[in-house]
Amino acid sequence: MNADERRSVLLTHESVPGGQGFFHREAAKDAKKSISNPCVLGVFAVRFFLLWPLALFTGRAWAQLPEAPGKEETKRICGKCHELERSVSVHQDEEGWLQTMDKMVGLGAKITDEEFGAILKYLAKNFPAEELPKLNVNKATAIELESRLTLTRSQAAAILQHRAKKGPFKSIEDLKKVPGLDAAKIEAKKDRLAF
Ligand code: HEC
Repeated sequence: MNADERRSVLLTHESVPGGQGFFHREAAKDAKKSISNPCVLGVFAVRFFLLWPLALFTGRAWAQLPEAPGKEETKRICGKCHELERSVSVHQDEEGWLQTMDKMVGLGAKITDEEFGAILKYLAKNFPAEELPKLNVNKATAIELESRLTLTRSQAAAILQHRAKKGPFKSIEDLKKVPGLDAAKIEAKKDRLAF
């Protein structure tokens, strides 16, 4: 069986609308002719033995949350409105997780203070920010500044504006002087910054 034939078997390997068969009628004739062909059997094997377990596996990926305190609360609450996988699809630091959780509360998530603390700790510990190279403040785009330093859009814009007007920042002290920035917040993130 060549590649074209194999493709045609794959493409026609669908159920007939309204019918009970597995194949389009034309394809069914062909398939009968070549059903003993090892290649066709191979296609069946791929579908039934590879794709099925794969589908089950992806559907259950949530079951593989790391065991740690806070797992139960996270599973129960963060899987309510959307798939739990979506909840843990991001990696961020504790402050980032705090913002995400505040956002979820704003969207209607019912979480007690105790649960909030447990989930926040669980997420920050098990889905931490990925180690990224330092961000060069003099080259960074507004989006990079926003996401890496958890700034608002207007704060990131203020940095770009300041940079364009007054030239490159030489140190963290220069950066702290940008109007509208929270100096303490910038100080806390100095390890992530390069000049
Ligand atoms: C009351 C329903 C609800 C609950 C409970 C909930 N979420 Fe959400 N979540 C949403 C909605 C709605 C969106 C889509 C928001 C959007 O697209 O702006 C979302 C989106 C997200 C996203 C995608 C990124 C983003 O910020 O939009 C993440 C991550 C997330 N939720 C995490 C969580 C975590 C963690 C929990 C548990 C603390 C949680 N969610 C519980 C409603 C909920």
